[in-house]
Amino acid sequence: MTYTLDKLKKKLALPESLQIKFPPAEIEADLAIPCFREDPKKIARKIKGLKLPLIEEIKIEGRYVNLILNKNLLAKQVLSDIEKSGDKYGWAKDGKKILIEYSSPNIAKPMHIGHLRNNVIGHSLEKIYEARGNKVTSINHIGDWGTQFGKLILAWQKWGPKPITTENLYKLYVRINKQTAKNKKLEQEARDTFTKLEKGDKKLLKIWERFKNHSIKEFKKTYKEFDINFDLWLGESFYQEAAEKIIKEALKKGVASKEEDGVIVVDLEKHKLPSYILQKADGSTLYAGRDLAAAKWRLQKYKPTKILYVVGHEQELYFKQIFKTLELLGYDSSKLEHVNYNLITIGGKRASTRAGRTVFLDEVIKEALRHTKNNKIIGLGAVVYNTLSQKRNRAIDFDWKKILNLEGNSAPYIQYGYVRAQSILKKAGKKKVDGKIVIETEREVRLIKLMAHYPEIIKQAQLLNEPHLIASYLNDLTQEFNRFYNSDPVLAANDSSKVKTRLLIVSGVAKIIKNGLVLLGIKTPKKM
Ligand code: ARG
Repeated sequence: MTYTLDKLKKKLALPESLQIKFPPAEIEADLAIPCFREDPKKIARKIKGLKLPLIEEIKIEGRYVNLILNKNLLAKQVLSDIEKSGDKYGWAKDGKKILIEYSSPNIAKPMHIGHLRNNVIGHSLEKIYEARGNKVTSINHIGDWGTQFGKLILAWQKWGPKPITTENLYKLYVRINKQTAKNKKLEQEARDTFTKLEKGDKKLLKIWERFKNHSIKEFKKTYKEFDINFDLWLGESFYQEAAEKIIKEALKKGVASKEEDGVIVVDLEKHKLPSYILQKADGSTLYAGRDLAAAKWRLQKYKPTKILYVVGHEQELYFKQIFKTLELLGYDSSKLEHVNYNLITIGGKRASTRAGRTVFLDEVIKEALRHTKNNKIIGLGAVVYNTLSQKRNRAIDFDWKKILNLEGNSAPYIQYGYVRAQSILKKAGKKKVDGKIVIETEREVRLIKLMAHYPEIIKQAQLLNEPHLIASYLNDLTQEFNRFYNSDPVLAANDSSKVKTRLLIVSGVAKIIKNGLVLLGIKTPKKM
C-alpha cells in the first residue's frame, strides 16, 4: 500500500469531513487530525477501537488528534513499497486526460529567461501529471500571427533582406519597434502589412514562412538541451479561420457586439471584468480571438478533464476575460486553468526584449556549460533546479551566481547525494544480508518519515501545480540523508538487521532522488 493521506484516512475510517495531515516538524507526532467540528475524544476512541498495529499512540492536544506510528512497521511498509515500485514509487493511476500548454514563444524572437521559467515549470508539470497516472498532451502555442509580423516583414522589406538569423531578426524587431513608437504612418503601414498577410498575400506569406521555419528550428535546438518534446506544435496562425468563426458565433450569441466604427467588442462589465476588443475595424483577428478558437478546438477535439495554460502572471486578467467569454459562449471553461508565474527580473527591473534588456536562454545554457566544463547533467540541472526552487508566485531576480549555484539547495547538491548513495550500494555489491527491519536512530526515523511523505508530495505538487514542492522536498531529503550517512554507518553497522535496514534506506533514497529529479526535468549523473 502506498502511504498517502487519502489511503490512511480510509484505513482509519475517518468521516469525509475530517482531514489528516503531516504535522510540522516541531510537533511530536507522525499524523495529525484537526477536529474543529467533531469531538477529538470521540475520534480518538474510534481510532483506538480499530486496533491497528501501525498506530502506536493516540494523543489529544487541543482540537487535534495526533497519532504516533510504530516506526518499524512504517519502515517495513515504506521500504517494501519502494522496493516493489522501484522508479515508480509514489506514482498513481489517475487516468485522466490533461492538456498542458506551455512555452509558446513568439517566432522571430529568441527565447529569454522568462521562457526559461515557463519551460521548466511546464515540463515539470508534464512529468508530474504523468506520474500521477494522467494521459498528458503537451502543446506549444507558438506566437506566429499578429501585427508584430506585419512589422517584422515590413522591416525586412525596408532594411533587409539579410540572411535569416535569429540575431538579424531580433535587430530588425527592435529597430522597427523603436521607429513605429514615434512614427504613426509607419505603424499604420505595419498594420496594413499584417492585414494583407491575413488575407493570404502569397509574397508576404512566403517571407513569414521563412521566419517561422527558422525560429522553429532554433527553438527545437534549445528544447533539446532540456529534453523537452511537445506533442503538438500549433501556432496561432492555425486558428485564424476558426477565430473568424468564433467571432461570428460570439456576435450571434450576443456575447460580442459590433460598434459603430466596425470594431467588435466583448462587454464584460456585468461580470466585473474589463471589456476587450475581439476584432479590429479592418477585420484582422487578434490574440484573444485566436485563444477563444484554440480553447474551443482543444475542448472538442480532446475532451480533456483539464487544460493548463502555463503563462506568465501579466496575462492573468486576460485569461479571466477569455475564460469568462468561453463560459458565456456555453463552453465548459471550468476545465481551463491559468498556471501563472512571476517574473524573472534583471537588477530588480522587468526584463524586456523590446527594450533590449534581457538575458537570452541560449546564453544561460552556454554559460552553464562553460561553468561545469560541458557537463550538461550538472550545468543544466543547476539552472532548472534553481528556477524551480522558488514558488511560482515569487519573483526571481536573475543572478548568474545563483542560477549556476552548485552548492547546498541546488541540483548538484542533490545529484551528489544520489551518487553517494549509489557508491554505498555498489560497495555492498550483491552481498545477501539477512535480518528484520529495525529502526533505531533518530536519523533513521526522520528519513523513513520523509520517504513516506513522497507520494503525498507528488500529489500536492499536482494539486497546486507547484513543482517547487518536489524541489524543496528533494533538498530536505538529501540533507537528512547526508546527516544519516555521516552518523549511522551502513556497511560497518554491527549486526545484519541494521545493515539490511540501512541498505534498504540508502537504496530507497537513491530511487526517490532519481525519480524526483525526473519529475523536475533533471537527470542524475553516474559519478561526480
Ligand atoms: N506567445 C505569447 C507570448 O509570448 C504567449 C502565449 C500564451 N498562450 C496563450 N494561449 N495565449 O506572450
